[in-house]
Amino acid sequence: MLVLIWVTLLLPARGRTADTGPSFGGRTQCQNRFCITFNDGEITAEAGLCVVIPCSYTPDYNFYPQHMIWYKCESVKEKCGDLDMIFHTNKNSKNVQSGYKGRVSLLEPDVIQRNCSIIVNDLMESDSGVYQLRINGYLNGFPDGFTFSPRTTVSVKDLIQKPTVMIPPLTEGQQTTLTCIAPGLCSGSYPEITWTWRGAGGDDFHITGNITAFKTENLTSVTQRHSSTLTFNPSVIHHGTKVTCKVSFANNITTEETVTLNVACFPEILKNSGCEVQSEVLTCVCVSKGSPVPTIKWPLLKNHTEYSVITTVSNHTVNSTLTVKGHSNTVVECVSSSEVGEVRQNIKIITSERPEGPVQHCGPHSAVLPWAIAAVSLIVNVICITCMMFLWNTRKKMKPQQEDQTYMSLQEKDRSPEYDVIGQSLK
Ligand SMILES: *[C@@H]1O[C@H](CO)[C@@H](O)[C@H](O)[C@H]1NC(C)=O
Ligand SMILES: *[C@@H]1O[C@H](CO)[C@@H](O)[C@H](O)[C@H]1NC(C)=O
Ligand SMILES: *[C@@H]1O[C@H](CO)[C@@H](O)[C@H](O)[C@H]1NC(C)=O
Ligand SMILES: *[C@@H]1O[C@H](CO)[C@@H](O)[C@H](O)[C@H]1NC(C)=O
Ligand SMILES: *[C@@H]1O[C@H](CO)[C@@H](O)[C@H](O)[C@H]1NC(C)=O
Repeated sequence: MLVLIWVTLLLPARGRTADTGPSFGGRTQCQNRFCITFNDGEITAEAGLCVVIPCSYTPDYNFYPQHMIWYKCESVKEKCGDLDMIFHTNKNSKNVQSGYKGRVSLLEPDVIQRNCSIIVNDLMESDSGVYQLRINGYLNGFPDGFTFSPRTTVSVKDLIQKPTVMIPPLTEGQQTTLTCIAPGLCSGSYPEITWTWRGAGGDDFHITGNITAFKTENLTSVTQRHSSTLTFNPSVIHHGTKVTCKVSFANNITTEETVTLNVACFPEILKNSGCEVQSEVLTCVCVSKGSPVPTIKWPLLKNHTEYSVITTVSNHTVNSTLTVKGHSNTVVECVSSSEVGEVRQNIKIITSERPEGPVQHCGPHSAVLPWAIAAVSLIVNVICITCMMFLWNTRKKMKPQQEDQTYMSLQEKDRSPEYDVIGQSLK
């Protein structure tokens, strides 16, 4: 007790900071008037990241600390030896194990502060063990040192923390930036951050015009935050794709996070919308795709009281079927709207063929298929015409004009059902 009072009284006189005790909830153990405070219990950390060992000490009042030395050894060893040295405040010390050089630093570099907390970066499972402190200095003016016998235990486990991926709301056509933040606030080697895309079909694909940027922020002298940004122009082809941010730390330790993109895309009215009149009853179908799913309105209904509307929704597509009696218009307007926007389209009332809408672009496959069918149909037509001309040439004397007409009408009939089937399969 007397010693403690003396220490308290002598400290300011020696120009040291007053002993306010440890600033963390640790446990203080004293031996020969040298006290050390460590965390209660084991410290756990993850490979690839870093660990902070909180520590403070109070030396004998006659002792002037000069250097701090840290050792790490197996817990079965009663006392760590010189071969176990992992850190020395004297940078010229040759005894520090090469595997720890540059990986260990003091949180408070001023030795006078009696703050022995260290950070160990680029952790590996082999960094698990007990950590022990020694101070070298002068006791009553003579070079001396003291190794604290209390030790603290660190246990390094597999990396389970994942990167944090931040996605702002994505809207078709508006350039956006995704951010991926590496886990851990350490000061070791810089991790490598890579982005990959996976399409709905499971294939990796590139986004043209993408820009990635790596950034490091110094939070304190010993903590840094690493992040990477990916800037691109979202379009509907990105809707539903998966983006993975992979962070690779030293020693091949990696962690990744995958997010699914949800791109808001403008509502569109699809080609397979159409109107038909049968015995005074008008039936109109308006098919619209968008994300979020749009809602369909029929302005025509303002002038009608007797009608029915059936709406079905599936896979970002809404299908509204209107049945109304005694119509007087020649065109019917369909209005499809969502929080992203609104589209209006006049649908012609035709009984035989479907009207041609604008080229749809919400969803890659639905836009490609009709063109593929059109191309195939064109090729078939060309072949048929070639055959026909061949036949016509060989049978010139057999009423050529009549045969020609039959062929043409057959073609028309052949084509219509094909279009109907395609139109339905798109819903
Ligand atoms: C040691 O120094 C670090 C960095 O300045 C500080 O965060 C920590 O609280 C100090 N520890 C003690 C026990 O004073
Ligand atoms: C970004 O574009 C470049 C070249 O255009 C490509 O090599 C890279 O893989 C793309 N990255 C992503 C995430 O698509
Ligand atoms: C962060 O600190 C490192 C050295 O500790 C320095 O090289 C780098 O320029 C600093 N970066 C910023 C953004 O301050
Ligand atoms: C990391 O992994 C790569 C391939 O998976 C291998 O070529 C390299 O040697 C490994 N590096 C280390 C330090 O284990
Ligand atoms: C409703 O009827 C009025 C007058 O008959 C006409 O001017 C208007 O265009 C109609 N509205 C719709 C949406 O058909």
